[in-house]
Amino acid sequence: MGNLEERLENYFNEDYLPMHMPGHKRNIKLLGEKLPYRIDITEIDGFDDLHHPEGIIKEIEEKAKKIYKSNKSFILVNGSTCGILAGIRSVVNYGDKVVVARNSHKSIYNAIELNGLNPIYVLPKIDKNGINKEIKASDVETIFGKNRDIKLVIITSPTYEGVLSDIKTIVNVAHKYKVPVLVDEAHGAHLNFMKNSNYEALNCGADIVIQSLHKTLPALTGTAILHIQGDLVKEENIRRELSIFETSSPSYILMSSIDECLSLIESNGKKLFLDYQENLKYFYNEARKLKKLKILGNEILNKNNNGKSKEKIRKELYDFGKIVIITKNTNITGKELADILREDYKIEIEMSSTYYIIAMTSICDNKESFERLLNALKEIDLKLVEEKVKEEANNDFTYYDVDLPRKAMPINEALNSKKFVLENYKNLEGKISKEYIFAYPPGIPIITPGEVFDKNIINIIENYMKANIELRSTFDKFPNIEIVDF
Ligand SMILES: Cc1ncc(COP(=O)(O)O)c(C=O)c1O
Repeated sequence: MGNLEERLENYFNEDYLPMHMPGHKRNIKLLGEKLPYRIDITEIDGFDDLHHPEGIIKEIEEKAKKIYKSNKSFILVNGSTCGILAGIRSVVNYGDKVVVARNSHKSIYNAIELNGLNPIYVLPKIDKNGINKEIKASDVETIFGKNRDIKLVIITSPTYEGVLSDIKTIVNVAHKYKVPVLVDEAHGAHLNFMKNSNYEALNCGADIVIQSLHKTLPALTGTAILHIQGDLVKEENIRRELSIFETSSPSYILMSSIDECLSLIESNGKKLFLDYQENLKYFYNEARKLKKLKILGNEILNKNNNGKSKEKIRKELYDFGKIVIITKNTNITGKELADILREDYKIEIEMSSTYYIIAMTSICDNKESFERLLNALKEIDLKLVEEKVKEEANNDFTYYDVDLPRKAMPINEALNSKKFVLENYKNLEGKISKEYIFAYPPGIPIITPGEVFDKNIINIIENYMKANIELRSTFDKFPNIEIVDF
């Protein structure tokens, strides 16, 4: 029968008259072939139904299940976002208490709002470069010790910067209390295929795992997968929630892309991932020659290598597929490095922050891509001036080491409050935020609705602004912010 793309192509060639959606009617005579109208169909006879798969879509989901070794996999065309909303709602009731990593993506906060959840935050430390470190299982355990009514644990691993958490131990803690663990593995769809990887969430026993295929694998934007395993999560609940949060007109182009991506991994994944890891190794080794710029992966390796056995070194909690380049102790910010790479070298990176940038890689980067990035970095490095930043003068990212801002009311209550005033962020000490404030990417909130502004938060905002990092707020009027008024 062929894969989905072949079937769609055959269907086009059969020349059926489409008296149905979509309105482009595959009329390539009128519309041309720049966009893939030929294979863009709707859920017609013989092409299955994403929300009730029994045919070709079921086959793709079976393929995903086999490759990822899940109990059940659901393909998604609205990104990890819809998987996260559906996954969370499938196991909670309105108002439930949940453990949530504070460094969560906004989709998780949106789920908290929609379900009126009571989040108990688990706080990662922040390193000297402003990067969130791993979530500690011992911190999750402490929260369970104090709260007997937790219904779900929500962790992001790997993070945007590639930091992995010890999901296995976190799962062990939660499962002692029969509580499921949902892992936002949006950045980790590739991990299962990397050699020596020990921290992929399914392998570690997580109950619900959501992965964006489009972020780290060769798949079109918007494609993702939700996997489940174990008996704490019900397949029918996930299906029901997906029917709420996912479009009723799923793109066959996106579903074909998922199919193609999975087939490529099945047929050629071993070689592609071996080559990829060779290229990464080459990059990291060569990058050691940089004098002023530092690479996070190498810093972690240096630290881990100190007196540890080879076996231990392999198990570092880090995804080396993320190349995080640190500009701290140089005369430029991360944002400035990103600008130089774009303007002088035509290299577009994924994200820049005050002290670092993230370059994303995948099996689709060949040796030349890694060399091009390396050569640019080497040239830039030669021109940089070393500037030792005094740590004590620079303790601007101690947000999570200090306490979280005080919570005055639940997120949804603050967001829905009808009484509010607009104020400049500088005048907000002691006031309750009605908004999220975050840098996007990565979309992790500095403050959430219902939390009270304090000096520390205002400092953090100012430090982002000094580094020219664009901040956004829920109602888009930053630097003015809506605050709850009684
Ligand atoms: C950690 C994390 N989770 C979830 C998402 C949402 O993923 P998607 O864009 O596939 O909806 C993102 C997107 O940037 C993310 O960084």
